[in-house]
Formats: sequence, structure tokens, C-alpha cells
Amino acid sequence: MAEPVRVLVTGAAGQIAYSLLYSIAKGDVFGKDQPIALVLLDIAPMMPVLEGVVMELQDCALPLLREVIPTDKGEVAFKDLDAAILVGSMPRRDGMERKDLLKANVAIFKSQGESLDKYAKKTVKVLVVGNPANTNCLIAAKSAPSIPKENFSCLTRLDHNRASSQVAMRCGISAEFVKNVIIWGNHSSTQYPDVHHCKVNKQGKDVACFDAVKDEAWLKGDFISTVQQRGAAVIKARKLSSAMSAAKAICDHMRDIWTGTQEGNFISMGVYSTGNSYGVPEDLIYSFPVTIKDKTWKIVDGLAINDFSRAKMDATAAELVEERDTAVSFLGVTTEPQPSAPHLDAQENLEARL
Ligand code: NAD
Ligand code: LMR
Repeated sequence: MAEPVRVLVTGAAGQIAYSLLYSIAKGDVFGKDQPIALVLLDIAPMMPVLEGVVMELQDCALPLLREVIPTDKGEVAFKDLDAAILVGSMPRRDGMERKDLLKANVAIFKSQGESLDKYAKKTVKVLVVGNPANTNCLIAAKSAPSIPKENFSCLTRLDHNRASSQVAMRCGISAEFVKNVIIWGNHSSTQYPDVHHCKVNKQGKDVACFDAVKDEAWLKGDFISTVQQRGAAVIKARKLSSAMSAAKAICDHMRDIWTGTQEGNFISMGVYSTGNSYGVPEDLIYSFPVTIKDKTWKIVDGLAINDFSRAKMDATAAELVEERDTAVSFLGVTTEPQPSAPHLDAQENLEARL
């Protein structure tokens, strides 16, 4: 049997983690033969709750789960990691935009980037989930100059899954028959869910999404706003932000990093923009269509972009530029990587955001 992969989940006492940990621990993400050491970070006041989560993981009697390490200490949590899933942060409430969380959450990701830089393996794959996910991811990457920026990504797979599912429901088929939707830009209400390159498999044949759905007005109108506003709609209904669907999307995202995407398929994830793809400004974490092989993502280049798409891709880029500049002004992080700053532990993070 292989050596265990060491996987960190932050916000481990929260609601997304509660839906996520079982799937990771039973092998849905890193492989059915891959032992796992699960490191669970939360803030000090949540340690009693986290103990309960640890008991439940033990009680699942899972063969792949070799070790569970609950902690509120950065130097324990980030040590020798192979993968880090950064969930821990404040979720938004009814009536808030995700950017309202910027000030509260961005300090957490600066501190955790510094801890990754100091303690994790240089090969660590980091997935940022806590909102605003793109900008938090950028700040974490900037705060970890010794880890390649390509190792950082943020979650837009939930939006991707939402878009696939909306198209599938409209066609009366299962979501597995919809491929290559694209989420461009920010995990926010400016994101652009794009179906111009999407294919729907109808009776064994791939058909362009516009031909399969046969309702251009819906695809260019309500479809887009439904996906853009889906997080808010879940919050309004549940009085809590999405958790089950977020956990499923995290598993899809990290599993694809670990095992690659299928031939002919691409998926959406927020990755570092160098300014060389689709006219997106550099130094943003922007959601692109990507393929993944050997744990390395590649932006799918050369897709035709019409004026309708261009305007929406630019609008979400503009929001990300504004978010980045606000975050940088809060934190004093430069647009170039900096040397590591002193480490903040989880309790200090909590105090920083109160
Ligand atoms: P939650 O409040 O249920 O759990 C968050 C947990 O994080 C809590 O246990 C809290 O104590 C912990 N935490 C806070 N600061 C921390 C720190 N510095 N270090 C470690 N842990 C810390 O929230 P949730 O519903 O699990 O959501 C978590 C985040 O995920 C929110 O920001 C939410 O908006 C975001 N989210 C993102 C997506 C996405 O698609 N990108 C989807 C859903 C939710
Ligand atoms: C979501 O998309 O469900 C999450 O990002 C939660 C939110 O704030 O919308």
C-alpha cells in the first residue's frame, strides 16, 4: 500500500466540512487504494465541536483513514501537506454579496498562505473555498512565494455543476450527458456561465447546447442569472450557505487535480492568470476552462469568443481587479510575491476578523 497522503481541511468544524470529510476519508477524492492522514484545523473555541467530528470519523471505521489530527495550531496543521482544502472562514448571510466578506476573510488567507510557505511540501495542491474565493486564493498564493502559483486554485466547480445541471434539467436528461460548460471569472454574481462550447449528448450523439435546448433567450437570460444567483437563492431558502453541493464540488475539483480530466472534457476552476489567455488581466485568480494531466492544469486556449461573451468576461475581470486592489490595500500585500511575514495562529485570525 502507498504512503498516506496528508490532507488538510480548514474550517473542519463547519457545515461544508461536515459534508466533505466522509467522502475524502472513504477514498472518493484521492483514490480507492490511497491511505489518508486527515488534518483538521479550526479555531480554538471550536475544538470541542471538532472532537465530535473526530469521534464520528473514527466511528465510520474506514479502511483508508490512517490518522486524524485535529488542531488549532498552524504549525501542526500545515506541516508536510500534500493537499490543502481551505474552507475555514465566515460565510455570507442573506442580503450580503460575497465581496462583503473581503475584509473579514482575507486576513485568514494571508496568514494561511504564510503557513503553507513555511510548513507544507512545495508540491502541495491548495484549493481555496472560503469566500471571496478567487481573491482569498490570490492572497494565499502571494503569501507563499516558495510554492508555485500553479499549485493554487479556487472553487468554481460548484457553479460549473450548477450550470451543467440547469442545462440537463431543461433537456430532461441526466447531468452526466452535459459537458464543457464554462464558468469565466469570479465566484460571484458577475461570473459568466457560458454554454457556447457546451455539448449535450442526446441519444449517443454530441449536440451543441443551443441546438439541444432550443431556447436562446433562456440560455442568454434566465439560465445565466439563475447560476449567478444560485448561492444567494440557497442562502435565502436554507438560511445557511450551500454545503452538500459545495462539498460535492470540492471532491470533483480535487479528484480531477489528482487523477486528471477525461479526454475531450474540460472543467472550470479559478487559476492564476498570466495575462496570456483570453485577454484576462494578469495577477488575478480567474475561472477558466481547463484540462488536467499529471496533476497539472492547462487552460483550454483558442475557443471562439463572441461579443456577448467578451463583455461578460470583461465585467467579471473588472470586479476581480477591484477586489484584488481592495484586498491588497487592507493587507499591504504587494502585487509581486513577498518574503514570508510572521505566522498568525487561528485564534489571532479570529481576533483579526472580529
Ligand atoms: P461555517 O461557518 O459552517 O464553517 C466555517 C468554519 O470555519 C467554522 O467552524 C469556523 O470556526 C472556521 N474558521 C473560521 N476562521 C478560521 C480560521 N482562521 N482557521 C480555521 N478555521 C476557521 O461555514 P461554511 O458554510 O462551512 O462555509 C465556509 C466558507 O465557504 C464560507 O466562506 C462560504 O462562503 C464558502 N463557500 C464557498 C463556496 C464556493 O463555491 N467557493 C461554496 C459554499 C461556501
Ligand atoms: C455558494 O455559491 O453557494 C457559496 O459561495 C455561498 C455564497 O455565499 O453564495
